[in-house]
Amino acid sequence: MTLSAPSVVGAPVKLRCEYTVNPLGIDNVTPRLSWQMAHGRRGARQTAYQLRVSTLRDMEAKPATLWDTGKVVSDASIQIRYGGRKLKSRQRAYWQVKVWDAEGVESPWSEPALWEMGLLKQEDWEGMWIGLPFPAELAAEDSAPATYLRRDFNAPAAVAAARLYITACGVYEPYLNGQRIGGAGTEGAAGGADLFTPGWTDYNKRLRYQTYDVTGLVKPGENTLGAILGDGWYAGNVGFMKAHGIYGKEALLLAQLHITYEDGSTETVLTDPLWRGTQGGPIRSSDMLMGETYDARMDLGAWACAGYEAGQWAEVTASPRVEGELIAQVGPTVQYIGELGAKELWQDGQGRWVFDLGQNMVGVARLKYQGQPGETVTLRFAEMLNPDRSIYTTNLRRAKATDTYTLGSGNLEMYTPRFTYHGFRYVELSSSAGTVVKPAIDAVTGVVLHSATRETGAFECSNAKLNQLQHNILWGQKGNFVEVPTDCPQRDERLGWMGDAQVFIRTAAFNMDVAGFFNKWMLDVEDAQTAEGAFTDVVPNIMDMTNPNWKPYGTAAWAEAGIICPWTVYLCYGDKQILADRYESMCGYIAYMKANSVELIRPEAGYGDWLAIGSETHKALIGTAFFAYAASLMEKIAGVLGKKGDARKFGRLFKDVKKAFSREFVTAGGRMVSHSQTADVLALRFGLVDEPAKGAVIAHLCADIEKRGVITTGFVGCNLILPTLTQIGRDDLAYKLLLSEKFPGWLFPVNHGATTIWERWDGWTPEKGFQDAGMNSFNHYAYGSCGEWMYAHLAGLDLDAERPGYKHAVIWPKVGGGITSAKAELETMYGVVGVKWWLADGVFHLTVKVPANTTATVVLPTTNPSDIHEDDTPLGPLPAMQIMPRATNTALEVGAGEYGFTCGYRAVEGNA
Ligand code: BGC
Repeated sequence: MTLSAPSVVGAPVKLRCEYTVNPLGIDNVTPRLSWQMAHGRRGARQTAYQLRVSTLRDMEAKPATLWDTGKVVSDASIQIRYGGRKLKSRQRAYWQVKVWDAEGVESPWSEPALWEMGLLKQEDWEGMWIGLPFPAELAAEDSAPATYLRRDFNAPAAVAAARLYITACGVYEPYLNGQRIGGAGTEGAAGGADLFTPGWTDYNKRLRYQTYDVTGLVKPGENTLGAILGDGWYAGNVGFMKAHGIYGKEALLLAQLHITYEDGSTETVLTDPLWRGTQGGPIRSSDMLMGETYDARMDLGAWACAGYEAGQWAEVTASPRVEGELIAQVGPTVQYIGELGAKELWQDGQGRWVFDLGQNMVGVARLKYQGQPGETVTLRFAEMLNPDRSIYTTNLRRAKATDTYTLGSGNLEMYTPRFTYHGFRYVELSSSAGTVVKPAIDAVTGVVLHSATRETGAFECSNAKLNQLQHNILWGQKGNFVEVPTDCPQRDERLGWMGDAQVFIRTAAFNMDVAGFFNKWMLDVEDAQTAEGAFTDVVPNIMDMTNPNWKPYGTAAWAEAGIICPWTVYLCYGDKQILADRYESMCGYIAYMKANSVELIRPEAGYGDWLAIGSETHKALIGTAFFAYAASLMEKIAGVLGKKGDARKFGRLFKDVKKAFSREFVTAGGRMVSHSQTADVLALRFGLVDEPAKGAVIAHLCADIEKRGVITTGFVGCNLILPTLTQIGRDDLAYKLLLSEKFPGWLFPVNHGATTIWERWDGWTPEKGFQDAGMNSFNHYAYGSCGEWMYAHLAGLDLDAERPGYKHAVIWPKVGGGITSAKAELETMYGVVGVKWWLADGVFHLTVKVPANTTATVVLPTTNPSDIHEDDTPLGPLPAMQIMPRATNTALEVGAGEYGFTCGYRAVEGNA
């Protein structure tokens, strides 16, 4: 990379539509297009782009053009909304982009990418909902055997294209001619297969469908389309409030296969009364929380292939419509992501074998086992062990989390459940045959699943315990980002608790690309909103809304997730659309808060600073602080959307609520009425106190931390406290809290062997053992929300709210805590932003990566710019760089490129 090299602009890469590479079956008729500029030159930036979209892959064919933007003078390379000819159901669009750089040099066209529209109108769905009646011999709360459904059809000619549009009430696995559609399938190697489709939404309101390209699977002649249907969230157990079948009792399937023959003729195969079904297959029951029961003796053979004798199968029930609106897949599906081998295997006191996977994970166990036909192997799951090394299951509450497999032969058999999952590190194996001889260590493996959010971030530093903490945060995220951001994966809960999600979302967006995932969930949030405008505590909402003693909506620090999460998606991905789409519902929630406050003070209600140890914060204080914060975010959101009048209105509301907050919760001497870290942090972070009170609040917070040496916040303050300490210039105190090894504190579980984040600071202590089993998850990500500070401040990789999506990054490592090196990388919408710093012999080294078409502010810990070297030469007036000495450091404004800086480093008291 030399400065004199002529400008060469490569073709743009990483073309994405709606956050996805070549999505099939989307609903958005003005989809958002993004690309990355391929340019190695320092300071590379885009000054113009041209997009063209066509119905044909051959982009030169003019008549097929859907959209040609011509040359658009703009540096925008993400979230460009399609503005061409109106798109129709099932239409395919190919697209290409080229860009111009700052020198006016033009790139070649990118490789064409594509997207395909789904079924845009409800009337496009011509099939019927089919299934089998719930077996009369079962009790209402029982889980039904899986329903196997099949239909033969004849394809008279060679097939040019075939698409399957498919969904279910329940969960389904689709098959064509015996082949699993939508990935590698459950029996094969882990990875790729879509699981638990159509996923979880409030089915009464909205139901997603999936689209598959099955062109290669439909053969001229006889074919068979099939599906296995399980209860899933629809008809099975969900949460803890109501037992079973909240949405419906019987699982149902809806499918539509569109075939285009080579001669241009078309045909559609629908779910209709011609299908046949059976509940006599090997999946005897399945439930997301309870587990799956499989009897291999009931194997149906090649049931999804043509020529199968299905004479005994029953006629299906067929009904026209279900309540919810059918929408295309938004966000990633759940998939198998990897497989863990057992590290250790032992026998407990009862003779049962216990496999230790070495990692608290979420997914299923794959069993490889040989025994006698009819022998039943039972697998049970746990996160922790009892002192005698048997598995500890008390904290699972009502979730049975048990899979059973009855062997069908005397040969080695393999089983991976389809329609359930568990949260576990330990797997217990026992058999109906009594004592089992020691199984092979690979008789059980752990198959990890989660919503297929790509890992986009990495963090590492010189402190091994913090690296373990980061590992635990990441695994907490993996285990709980399953269709919705759940609180925990193991017990009978697994709900999309809003508070947990809003404290963790910023950390989540460092670890993985969660844009699509939250685009989907925010729709669910809106679906759950009450008529009065309140966002609910859990989403999808399954709570009893009529309980006079527990109003599960409008709860402080939980409901505001409805505003905080879209705002965070905007900050991290430059996604204005989510703000525009959710704007009305966000306004609705502000109106709800206004209407449900007394002189702008929110009620003394809710969960308070949930699970705090050693301090308490008034609930009305929390509520009013979040009311003010929500108003301030709405001022910004309205501003981003160009709604100036609204922005002024929300700005005034913020000021009014802030005044009310001071009146009610800040004493004349500048103390918060709740003497807690959380109270101080909310006041400071949300800008609710001005001098002189602000100084007093800062002094109180610092004194409290000095005195106690530990964090005393619960969920509400846990993501805010470290950034607040940085904001007030006390990184030393942030390090003190982060590095404390006592509980309450982040490293206490690490020191006790945790591999995920615990729900409670004291989930287990040497003195007391396990906390109350009524609520003690060992995989709860909320306290992992310190991750955002580790990325943004310890490593120093932050965004700039004014230029969101990392269009402009802020690289500002906060050296301290005895840490001698750190690095972080993040694949943003523009490309990889990277930071790496280390201290050696009193010298601070910093390498920085800034992607093309972005800029960064890089802050070095010296006030003397002439002390800064770049690649061993004193910093000169380099192009694409501005130098700004400041009171305590020096800031450099840099363009795209890779840089290596050094400067002298002197530890400041309390830091390093
Ligand atoms: C969940 C939490 C949730 C809380 C609300 C618990 O049962 O596990 O994570 O936020 O309830 O107080």
